[in-house]
Amino acid sequence: MGEWQGRTAVITGGGRGFGKAFGTALAAEGAHVVLVDIDDAVAEAAAEEIRAAGGSADGVGGDVTDEARMAAIMEQAAAVNGGVDLLVNNAGLHSDEYGQPILKMGLAKVRRLFDVNVLGVVCCTLAAHPHMKGRAGASVVNISSSAAHMGGSAYGDSKLAVAGLTITFARELGADGIRVNAISPGLILTETIRNELPEATKQRVQAMQLIPGDGIEKDIVDAMLYLASAKARFVTGETLRVTGGMAAGV
Ligand SMILES: NC(=O)c1ccc[n+]([C@@H]2O[C@H](COP(=O)([O-])OP(=O)(O)OC[C@H]3O[C@@H](n4cnc5c(N)ncnc54)[C@H](O)[C@@H]3O)[C@@H](O)[C@H]2O)c1
Repeated sequence: MGEWQGRTAVITGGGRGFGKAFGTALAAEGAHVVLVDIDDAVAEAAAEEIRAAGGSADGVGGDVTDEARMAAIMEQAAAVNGGVDLLVNNAGLHSDEYGQPILKMGLAKVRRLFDVNVLGVVCCTLAAHPHMKGRAGASVVNISSSAAHMGGSAYGDSKLAVAGLTITFARELGADGIRVNAISPGLILTETIRNELPEATKQRVQAMQLIPGDGIEKDIVDAMLYLASAKARFVTGETLRVTGGMAAGV
């Protein structure tokens, strides 16, 4: 029996991209996974794919900024195996629309960006906490971004706050036996990125990498599996950069 048998993982933004890949990998290792997405149709479709492959999954609709909805989802998720063992705070706004200069986006868009990317992490962590407390090996993995370490964008600033919250929650939840870590992905060719990213931007970003070539979803999935596993039992408050060396620095 693998480490994930009989354990439950809740993954936000679970309907596509990294979230779906996290859910697929954890379910293949025996976890019951709950995929939460603002787009309920993609959450349900992703869960159906996992079930068709023999895994255990539920897809549920919900906005990570909705306190009551997240509390209800965590409660429902906890009922399956008696608690929540892993929360992956992955949902985030990162489309071109939210990658613009602040002067162009204006307050309303910046507010929504921070609401989802930053307060969404707080909302889901608070909702999951009562169900994670005291569970052996419980942990939270937040998804930050290489943009956090490079400066100069509201999106990067929102992800810098995620790295900060990772330290703060690691301190606050440590007493309850919950580890909290983050991953800062570099340029990873998810379906959304493949469809949206201009070739020139891809080449400019990849020119900054120390390891040439495309970052793929599996690179981030493997980092998540490590941070959430017993192999990382002594690791908390860290943000692991998986960028091909793009964001190398102090
Ligand atoms: N792909 C990359 O290269 C890359 C690099 C660095 C960081 N990231 C971060 O990784 C995370 C996932 O990225 P991805 O490429 O898989 O994105 P994606 O856009 O393919 O998927 C994100 C999912 O989150 C959902 N979502 C958006 N807002 C939500 C909300 N308020 N509540 C619940 N669900 C919501 C979307 O419906 C979508 O299904 C994001 O936080 C992103 O900022 C991605």
